[in-house]
Amino acid sequence: MLIKPSQDQLVLPSEITPREVYEDRRRFLARMAATAAVGSAVWEMANREAFAQAAGQRLAATANAALSTQEKQTSFKDASSYNNFYEFGTDKGDPVENAHTLKTRPWTVTIEGEVKKPITLDIDRILKLAPLEERVYRLRCVEGWSMVIPWVGYSLSTLLKQVEPTGNAKYVEFTTLADPRQMPGLRSPVLNWPYVEGLRMDEAMHPLALLGLGMYGQVLPNQNGAPVRLVVPWKYGFKSAKSIVRIRLTSRQPRTAWNDSAPNEYGFYSNVNPEVDHPRWSQATERRIGEDGFFQKKRKTLMFNGYDQVASLYTGMNLKKFF
Ligand code: MTE
Repeated sequence: MLIKPSQDQLVLPSEITPREVYEDRRRFLARMAATAAVGSAVWEMANREAFAQAAGQRLAATANAALSTQEKQTSFKDASSYNNFYEFGTDKGDPVENAHTLKTRPWTVTIEGEVKKPITLDIDRILKLAPLEERVYRLRCVEGWSMVIPWVGYSLSTLLKQVEPTGNAKYVEFTTLADPRQMPGLRSPVLNWPYVEGLRMDEAMHPLALLGLGMYGQVLPNQNGAPVRLVVPWKYGFKSAKSIVRIRLTSRQPRTAWNDSAPNEYGFYSNVNPEVDHPRWSQATERRIGEDGFFQKKRKTLMFNGYDQVASLYTGMNLKKFF
């Protein structure tokens, strides 16, 4: 899903390294390192760093079975090493390599706009605002792959209620960190930084919309959007903004980074919909990460990613027009 502000900075989808290729590349590098004396020391250091990143701080949560899928979960390794986080590079393997520079403390989130009580909350306060739940959600990326991830967090509505939205609050805008000192990917103008996403107010207040603070029983790895992100499981993954610093309630539909860069490809709503193809590819099926065998059949993509309980939010709306 790479779009470009100008022709000379164009990054083609073919330049995004597929997972199989970079994994092969990594295996190759691993062999090289293993055979060279100096190389092996470097390799060990890289391994230690990967381990340190993987061993995140535990985050206790109560399972929310009612909102969880029973499907086989994606491995932690896949979920934390095959990522989209363009602030750290556009290859799927870039975020895990580069996101160690992200400083997640101190961290605050400001909530403002059409609210009676604007507030700036420290991340440690946000972590304690409500009991943490574990919810196993499917996440379907617009590019055609999906994962099943046990997230930790609570409903976004819990946070939004703190500020007492006014009657004019119709939309919510999420702005994420854009600090070039911490985020090498900002040097590349693939998007108009900062990464901004938005939801309609009733979508944001739906109990399924999750304020994500952890996954797999631990705090979010940096590459997955630490310390706080959205998880909106019935929409394509790009709606789930990572590393949020500001939430603004608005009366008008906010601009969003992907819609800005290619309005005909990425709509504001971006509900998972197998009947509305992306202009450059079909959305009818998906590849579940971890089921990569040569003979593995793709899965059928489900309307709203299978989350039928949100259908009533869109009654009477033409979802082909408002894609
Ligand atoms: N948030 C920010 N700030 N920057 C990004 O590049 N990528 C989005 C979304 N949130 C992105 C982001 C996309 S395209 C997807 S599919 C999901 O994050 C991926 O989340 P994951 O890497 O945790 O699976």
